[in-house]
Amino acid sequence: MGPGGVGKTTCAAALALAKAARGSRVVVVTIDPSYRLAQALGIEGEGGVSGAVRSVQLPDGGGALDALLLDSSAVFDAVVRAGAKTEQAASAMLENSIYQATSRYLGGALEYAAMARLQMLYEEGAHDLIVLDTPPAANALEFLEAPSRVRALIDNPAAKVVLGGGRVGGRLLGLGAATLMKVLGRMGGGEFVRDLAGFLSEFSGMIEDFHRRGARFERALQSPSSSALVVTSSATFSVQETIEFADALRRFGVQVRATLVNRVTPDPGPLIDRAELEAMLSSRDPARVGAPDDLEWAYEAHRQSAEAHGRSLDAIARLDERFPDVKNIRVERRDPAPEDLGALLALGRVLWDQLEGADEGAQ
Ligand SMILES: Nc1ncnc2c1ncn2[C@@H]1O[C@H](COP(=O)(O)OP(=O)(O)OP(=O)(O)O)[C@@H](O)[C@H]1O
Ligand SMILES: [Mg+2]
Repeated sequence: MGPGGVGKTTCAAALALAKAARGSRVVVVTIDPSYRLAQALGIEGEGGVSGAVRSVQLPDGGGALDALLLDSSAVFDAVVRAGAKTEQAASAMLENSIYQATSRYLGGALEYAAMARLQMLYEEGAHDLIVLDTPPAANALEFLEAPSRVRALIDNPAAKVVLGGGRVGGRLLGLGAATLMKVLGRMGGGEFVRDLAGFLSEFSGMIEDFHRRGARFERALQSPSSSALVVTSSATFSVQETIEFADALRRFGVQVRATLVNRVTPDPGPLIDRAELEAMLSSRDPARVGAPDDLEWAYEAHRQSAEAHGRSLDAIARLDERFPDVKNIRVERRDPAPEDLGALLALGRVLWDQLEGADEGAQ
């Protein structure tokens, strides 16, 4: 998890690959990977949509890695279709205005569907490790809060009447719905009443199912078997967002396993004094005298690297200070960016070594 563009998807793929290569059964659940990364995992193109698990061909053939691409538009439909009794019922649900309003209220259809899909995966129990890549921080919180939103919806007194529950609830539902529809019919006209009737008959069971799933999902996230790796860049605003996000995760009851400063700029080291270098070069080549501008770019590049290195150190120091009890790991900026299986595997090994290394002084 973490702010936008910091390397969440890359690190999720890397962690999953490296763990699978060590012999575990792993699935990486990923959201909007770059084209090249999706290609490396073999989940690009039309086949990769709508919540189907694909198995990834590992370079050395060892281990088993699955990948699941949560496509923002298709996955919600898939979950609705999986929950509906018939294809017509599913289409009716997706088009129902009350359902559309409800899913908006639930705050992000994708986050919600992703939660439901993940919970199914978790309960199938076919994997030793599930690596979840999330959308940027703000949306990730919506994702975590989805179960409580359903609860709020269900605990709402009006919704209780509509959804019913048990025998008494069922009687209430019949009564309440009939009265409600008569009133609403006078107020809003026939179409609304028809949608409401559809909602009542088709969606109530499904929302309750979501609700049960959501509660179990929340428990799983808060259990010791789950933890978050929060990724940041060295930029001040990214570190700030990461700190707030990690706090929010903890309030939510999710264990933060580590923070990760990604794309750290290494120390460029000292550079020979400019005047000294000029003197040295000019003594060898007298023609250089009076034309020293060709060195400008090198000194400028060095200055920028040193500055970026300083920012990386600041980011690390701020996280250490703010979360003294949380491991703070780091990965250097790699060139080229890690986008093929080999590079991702190497990155994943570096990440696991730091995550699983001695707690003191993780470098
Ligand atoms: N350590 C690294 N060195 C160099 N490039 C990197 C590194 N980590 C990630 N990148 C590159 O940075 C870009 C963003 O990475 P990625 O897509 O993983 O970020 P993200 O956090 O998932 O973004 P979003 O918030 O948009 O989902 C990609 O081009 C990726 O290849
Ligand atoms: Mg991403």
